[in-house]
Amino acid sequence: MTTELKDFDATAADSGNRATERFRDSGKTVALQVPKERVSLLANEVLAAVYDTIRKHKVSYDEFNALKAWLISVGENGEWPLFLDVWVEHVVEEVSTEHREGNKGTIEGPYYVPGSPQFDSPATLPMRKDEGGTPLLFQGQVRAVDGTPLAGAHVEIWHADDDGFYSQFAPGLPEWNLRGTVLADANGIFALNTIQPAPYQIPTDGACGKLIAAAGWHAWRPAHLHLKVSAPGYQLLTAQLYFEGDQHLSDDIASAVKPELVLNPTARLEGVGNEVTYDFVLDAE
Ligand code: DHB
Ligand code: FE
Repeated sequence: MTTELKDFDATAADSGNRATERFRDSGKTVALQVPKERVSLLANEVLAAVYDTIRKHKVSYDEFNALKAWLISVGENGEWPLFLDVWVEHVVEEVSTEHREGNKGTIEGPYYVPGSPQFDSPATLPMRKDEGGTPLLFQGQVRAVDGTPLAGAHVEIWHADDDGFYSQFAPGLPEWNLRGTVLADANGIFALNTIQPAPYQIPTDGACGKLIAAAGWHAWRPAHLHLKVSAPGYQLLTAQLYFEGDQHLSDDIASAVKPELVLNPTARLEGVGNEVTYDFVLDAE
């Protein structure tokens, strides 16, 4: 860790509001038309589950008002993307990828930024001269389910730094720090140099942090690399990779760890730091 980084004023409102703006700009809601029948069905079932909980636990007016105040503060802090990605997205990911034969994926989270700089493999992600953290050589092959190598596949990667901060969401980091798109070679093989990220704590000073504190939970996610792996004619794979031995693998606040997504890096035989190989298998469209 470098001391300057600890002085950053990385507040929940900073990262929350940036994640909210980023979602608004993402185009994900353009031309969205959910049929009336479907809206009615889902809204009625969610409300019915809420009524059941209120009756079962005899929820009081004080508790109802605490909830109202908290929901208002989630919006004021710009934390709806954080809340939904931590506590809801993992189940949407589960049902929308259940028929895949290739790699398991997991949640995207709130900190993806499209359009990162592209590099031919082997590549080094953009990073500061004195970037903290253990260097990591991450390599592998992108293939189809039948084993065909996917030439020129895109391996898009983004992750937190050694202090748990994401560029473009925490202040003071270079724009594309630890973000890049690596183009695999003619055999679908890619190699990239980065650093191992630190475990990540979701912001504790905003509404999501208040819920965690009020419930006596913890705010940690295990250290992770975020990835989007793509090739023309194949389904986009959104994944995260974790590290063996991380103390939060079994209690990730975002419930996004799967056993297939855990890396076990070893010390490099040549050069400093660690290396690990991980292959991606994509389902056809
Ligand atoms: C959140 C942050 C992440 O880095 C992530 O991968 C998932 C969720 C969050 O703060 O909501
Ligand atoms: Fe993350």
